[in-house]
Amino acid sequence: MNSSDLRQKFLKFFEDRGHKIIPSASLVPSESVELTGTKRVLFTTAGMHPLVPYLLGESHPEGKRLVNVQKCLRTDDIDQVGDSVHNTFFEMLGNWSLGGYWREEAISWSYQFLIDVLKLDAKRIYVSVFAGDADAPFDQESYDIWRKLGLPENHIFKYGKQENWWGPVGPTGPCGPDTEMFYDVSPNDSGQVEKTSDSNRFIEIWNDVFMQYDKQNDGSFKPLKQKNVDTGMGLERMLAVLGNALSIYETDVFLPLAKRIEDLASYLDVKSTRIVADHIRSSVFLISDGVFPSNVERGYVLRRLVRRAIRHASLLKIEEDFLEDLAKIVIKTYGDLYPNLYESQNLIIETLKKEEDKFKKALSSGIRQFEKITGDISGHDAFDLYQNYGFPIELTIELATEKSKQVDLAGFEKELKAHQELSRKAGEKTKGGLTVQTEKAAKLHTATHLLHQALRDVLGKHVHQTGSHITEERLRFDFSHHAKTTPEQIKQTEAIVNQKIRDNLMVNQRVMPKEEANKIGAVGLFEEKYGDLVNIYFIGPSTKIEEAYSKEFCGGPHAKSTGVLGHFKITKEESAGSDLRRIYATIEE
Ligand code: ALA
Repeated sequence: MNSSDLRQKFLKFFEDRGHKIIPSASLVPSESVELTGTKRVLFTTAGMHPLVPYLLGESHPEGKRLVNVQKCLRTDDIDQVGDSVHNTFFEMLGNWSLGGYWREEAISWSYQFLIDVLKLDAKRIYVSVFAGDADAPFDQESYDIWRKLGLPENHIFKYGKQENWWGPVGPTGPCGPDTEMFYDVSPNDSGQVEKTSDSNRFIEIWNDVFMQYDKQNDGSFKPLKQKNVDTGMGLERMLAVLGNALSIYETDVFLPLAKRIEDLASYLDVKSTRIVADHIRSSVFLISDGVFPSNVERGYVLRRLVRRAIRHASLLKIEEDFLEDLAKIVIKTYGDLYPNLYESQNLIIETLKKEEDKFKKALSSGIRQFEKITGDISGHDAFDLYQNYGFPIELTIELATEKSKQVDLAGFEKELKAHQELSRKAGEKTKGGLTVQTEKAAKLHTATHLLHQALRDVLGKHVHQTGSHITEERLRFDFSHHAKTTPEQIKQTEAIVNQKIRDNLMVNQRVMPKEEANKIGAVGLFEEKYGDLVNIYFIGPSTKIEEAYSKEFCGGPHAKSTGVLGHFKITKEESAGSDLRRIYATIEE
């Protein structure tokens, strides 16, 4: 069975049982999901992640039964990538009940799908259930259902929270006991089997989670308003099981990629080949969801993936540039399913090439520098490799481990912090905003808000303000964007701003809790600047914030309405650093 058969069979099976198919959400969690206890989780790590508000009780427009194939990214196991089952990007097949059916249906359907549709051998299925602890009782119900379905006692294991409890994603939120299904890929007749943690023999194939608790900040578990079922099956692993493949890299989603890497390589190494394949695939998907290489958060994860792929490609003695070539294979493999890959093909390739250019030369000189170091790697050495050769600290650790050396991580962190503090201080000067508090400056400030929103409309939602400076004559606006804005995009942006000026929109102000402001999608430089209550300026046709065109965290002052601004004109567009652009603009009365 190939990947598209498996996806289709899964969706159809649950559609036949009253589930609505919902599209895959982005790898970058939306702001509303980040609010509900999953804050600080950088990526979508499971199918349930985008559904958190609905697991908490909000009603989903598609109803109570949902099914999908969700793109996910998990980097906790990144060091294990290279073995037969670990990967960073993967697709999760999942079905959900939002306060509808419960254990009986969920488990029976999982079993039916495995046996009747996928034709797995019932004798090779093992499961585990939650053993019970102070927070929640033994999952007798799941145990009984499995017995009723015909599983012998010695195929059902009982484990604690470590194994049989899933969630929350992040520190708080929906979670609960689960029952996991395993397939015995190398059965033998040695009699009683003790446990399912032998990952060479028992491959975990599916997880049914019974989300009935909401983990609180204090670590306690409160019952959820509604009982939910959340299931997840890793597509790649199931494909490997179905194809009797020895690894996920021998399934149709990876084969063309792995084969091309082997063709390019002058030295063969299974682990490095798999790392390159996995990391390229993840990087392509991340860029298509608007992540760009940087030194913080999501961008840093992407940078690590790309640079680690480049390093392992050099171990395989791939001499020529290879990222474009491999990215195209990923796009071809998945483009029909995820059309935004085709749409952002140029962006993906440009971004990867830029990173390849930047890092390839640095890599070989950095490695020479690394090799000069005698003994363990001091914090200063690690920081030098980071700062001057672009080595993510994880790469230095990987190199050190290969040579049985230690890295002084605390020393590295200290140097990094000191450096960041210096950059922050320098940055603050450029974030100054208003220097002249006059009527003209207030008008330019209002124009800045319109410009910010117009740029998001024209260039995409990834655009956000990184700095602003206003004088009597002009505004200057810095924002995140990966490419030069074209004359066409500049024209469009100007046209939108001028239309909003002609519409004579009202400029309103409101103070509200930060959560609420986040929920309505207010943008701006707020993280480090404000407390729990925030000041929002919104510009729209009425005093209703829902109808506003622009909503920004801001201290003012502003014009009272946009009609007074005059004609808006962008006078200059230039680079303001890596993936940062700067616009100068004026208003003429
Ligand atoms: N959310 C559950 C998991 O990821 C299904 O295993």
